[in-house]
Amino acid sequence: MKFFVDTADLDEIRELAATGLLDGVTTNPSLVAKTGKKFLDVIQEICAVVPGPVSAEVTALDHPTMLAEGRRLARLAKNVTVKVPLTLDGLKTCKALAGEGTMVNVTLCFSAAQAILAAKAGASFVSPFVGRLDDISQPGLELIRDIVAIYRQYASFKTEVLVASVRHPLHVVEAARLGAHVATLPPTVLRQLFHHPLTDKGLAQFLADWSKTGQSILGHEQGPRAVAKA
Ligand code: E4P
Repeated sequence: MKFFVDTADLDEIRELAATGLLDGVTTNPSLVAKTGKKFLDVIQEICAVVPGPVSAEVTALDHPTMLAEGRRLARLAKNVTVKVPLTLDGLKTCKALAGEGTMVNVTLCFSAAQAILAAKAGASFVSPFVGRLDDISQPGLELIRDIVAIYRQYASFKTEVLVASVRHPLHVVEAARLGAHVATLPPTVLRQLFHHPLTDKGLAQFLADWSKTGQSILGHEQGPRAVAKA
């Protein structure tokens, strides 16, 4: 399963990219607005930090303007993935951009019927929003199960299921169990995945016991020079 991070905050992105576990980034107009920076600059900077797909969303509602915006965004870097909303004009734009070789992420997907349309329009990714469905008491992960099952029926569907609006680690684990290709995680959820109280407790015990031995693995030679000599 690929992990994207769902933020436009460059400091967060740099820190998480340094783990080597980040496969891409998703942004949306709300996340970009939070940064207070210029949209095109932010996307260009993110693309320089993360080599994988970086989603940048169009803001027009009509096909001709969406297409022009999408082409402008795609010129920023070769890993830009143009994000379009799941509307008739959005899918028309998806089809056109995909035909030009641009990756497209169809966003705001809330039904399996919509996901079928996104695949037919040649989207690289479809983004079903699990958290926002849960919020209205509709099980978001059921939608993931449906889309994954439907896409598996058709070899011609190349669209990857990108689980969006993720709220907690269980969304990630269940999405992985269902075979979703990608999950885009808010930085807090990505960090939560690392933690388990028994890991912390076990580590504290190991280190307490180790300190009693008075030993050091690196001996008197500490840091990079010791590594270089070795
Ligand atoms: C991702 O592409 C979406 O924009 C994002 O996951 C939405 O998440 P939210 O429902 O927490 O705003």
